[in-house]
Amino acid sequence: MLNLYMPLKAKIIEVKKQTHDTKTFTIRLFENGSKFGFKPGQFNMVSLPGFGEAPISISSDPYNNETFDHTIRFVGSLTNAMESFREGDIIGIRGAYGSSWPVDEAKGKNVIVVAGGIGLAPIRPFILQMFHDRKSYGKIQILYGARGSGEMLFTDEFERWGRQPDTEVHLTVDRVAPDENWEHNKGVVTVLYEIARIDPENTVVVICGPEIMMRFASRGLLKKGFYGPQIYLSLERRMKCGIGKCGHCQLGGCFVCKHGPVFRYDQAREFHDTLL
Ligand SMILES: Cc1cc2nc3c(=O)[nH]c(=O)nc-3n(C[C@H](O)[C@H](O)[C@H](O)COP(=O)(O)OP(=O)(O)OC[C@H]3O[C@@H](n4cnc5c(N)ncnc54)[C@H](O)[C@@H]3O)c2cc1C
Ligand code: FES
Repeated sequence: MLNLYMPLKAKIIEVKKQTHDTKTFTIRLFENGSKFGFKPGQFNMVSLPGFGEAPISISSDPYNNETFDHTIRFVGSLTNAMESFREGDIIGIRGAYGSSWPVDEAKGKNVIVVAGGIGLAPIRPFILQMFHDRKSYGKIQILYGARGSGEMLFTDEFERWGRQPDTEVHLTVDRVAPDENWEHNKGVVTVLYEIARIDPENTVVVICGPEIMMRFASRGLLKKGFYGPQIYLSLERRMKCGIGKCGHCQLGGCFVCKHGPVFRYDQAREFHDTLL
């Protein structure tokens, strides 16, 4: 019988440093010829014998099914163990699991991406997907904030993203060091709402970041005239099975691993009204 909890062996084929505590690992399933498909917003359960298993979003281009990326911040048992991992090392992978960003629902509409810190990693596949299928979407505005410029991910891609047709990239940081040459904006990510002149008309918004940031970002959108069904966000909960069996990630009547992690704001509010 098929064991749903048995991870597939996968090999790290490239490691790229993003910040002082975050790296992107490019991974290939171990068996030669093994393809890996996923939808933007989905996650894998990543495991190392002796260090456990954790849900990690897929951060790469969904058009590439030869390899996939995980962008990992080193915070605990499994992720700290991965800090020293190099090309050729082996990890376990189960997935891809969970719901996706509104790739189809957003077609024919403008898209605003609101990301905070490591929250850009789960949204990057959706951004790259839209660039592949650029004519299907209207204006794309990417609003990205972090505590400092050194905390930002994928910084070498912003220029290329900004050169895509009808695409804007707006950056902000909470803090600028006295000797730092920072030519973008200062303040929390919602300051970019004014700067980018966001407009609710025919627009879908996707948000990912720390829960407090998503709360203020969503409320700021509602004040600007956006409605709940236009807004999607990705929730994080501690997980065990990742496939809707153990109840570990339960929020109200939902399992974040199975019904999420991407939820529509108005639906998430029904079971998560204290936080959003
Ligand atoms: C859908 C989803 C997608 C995610 N995507 C990413 C991603 O792309 N990149 C990424 O870096 N992370 C991601 N995460 C977060 C990641 O899964 C967690 O940080 C995970 O805990 C890391 O595992 P660990 O074993 O390294 O850390 P752990 O050892 O689990 O510790 C992580 C942190 O949680 C604290 N902690 C430990 N046990 C508990 C407990 N019982 N209750 C509360 N706090 C506790 C620890 O003190 C530590 O600060 C995602 C989470 C979800 C749900
Ligand atoms: S982690 Fe087991 S039900 Fe979600």
